[in-house]
Amino acid sequence: MLRRDLLKGAATAAIAIAAGLPATVALAQQQTVKVGFIGALTGPQAASGRQMANAIRLYQQLNGDTVAGKKIEVIFRDDTGVADQTRRIAQELIVNEKVAFLAGFSLTPLALAVAPVITQAKTPAIIMTAGTSVITERSPYFARVSFTLPQQTMPMAEWAAKNGIKTVVTLVSDYGPGLDSEKAFFEKFTELGGKVVAQLKAPLANPDFAPFLQRAADAKPDAIFLFVPGPTAGPLMRQVVDRGLTKGGIKIIGPGDITEDEQLVSMDDSVVGTITSHFYSVLHDSPLNKKFVAEYKKANNGARPNFIGVGGWDGMHAIYEALKKTNGDTNGDKLMAALKGLEWESPRGKMSIDANTRDVVQDVYIRRVERKDGELYNVEFDVVRQVKDPYHK
Ligand code: PHB
Repeated sequence: MLRRDLLKGAATAAIAIAAGLPATVALAQQQTVKVGFIGALTGPQAASGRQMANAIRLYQQLNGDTVAGKKIEVIFRDDTGVADQTRRIAQELIVNEKVAFLAGFSLTPLALAVAPVITQAKTPAIIMTAGTSVITERSPYFARVSFTLPQQTMPMAEWAAKNGIKTVVTLVSDYGPGLDSEKAFFEKFTELGGKVVAQLKAPLANPDFAPFLQRAADAKPDAIFLFVPGPTAGPLMRQVVDRGLTKGGIKIIGPGDITEDEQLVSMDDSVVGTITSHFYSVLHDSPLNKKFVAEYKKANNGARPNFIGVGGWDGMHAIYEALKKTNGDTNGDKLMAALKGLEWESPRGKMSIDANTRDVVQDVYIRRVERKDGELYNVEFDVVRQVKDPYHK
């Protein structure tokens, strides 16, 4: 549109509003609520941005794009997994697009990068993936629907300690969520009498896991506890299998990021028996999840959704419900008040946003990789109900 058309439109709208008359331009602007999605849609974490974006589109396709009389428009942006880009895009979406929400965030450093921006602008940001405990404490405008690593890891440590595992080597990606999972595992497992014999950390960028896996195996522990972000699960597990680590009597355990559902399909039977703790499996037995998985596959050439996709779905649900509660009011403080304490049924099961911490509360399942009907799945066999992040005060 030409600048003079814009000016003319704005002038018409202003006059119309002043006169109390309907004006198409003014109404169209008022009636659209913009959501700024920022995810890694290219680069090493591209699978994360893609899962979230697919699920957001699916949510709108199945639930419509109107809430409280307003059209919900999602603007999709790619930060390529680089924090400076995330911050720049967040500023641009807030200032130029006047988004009511930001959403997405494929990695912890990307979420942390926007904390000062959303605090200053009072713009709610829904974390759909990033899982380091401290993120929600960095701004009162964060709400999380994904998971935290300590929340996912403590049930794993407990299961290990109670199921004959006495010695463990931990190997994690060397950044926020990895350090959180290392710490949570160590604390719970040693509290219950287990021994962590080595704590190894691999770089997040371009990791070669081979030397770390070799050191882990050389320590001859009962189990190796592994964490990498979901999109890196394939490369990690390939190296685990290639080194024969699933054959030698050492158990492979970890949070469910390492056996995420989308890449699990292309792993081989060597990973059968891997035990993980996590909030989502495509095999989760509920009518809502069956529908979610079937519709996601239909819309995406048969690809499975994974826990990151479910975060996208639930983030969109939280946005819709918050807007229903404010009756379409996009004031940031009102939206945050509406998000606090929100409870709903997700494809993962019952979940809520804790009213005090703005962090996700959900069931954590213990699962075993098994082949069922010809495909590999995380089969849930135990559950810890409604787990909160253990590190928030
Ligand atoms: C994170 O960077 O916080 C993160 C990303 C992907 C995961 C887990 C944690 O699967």
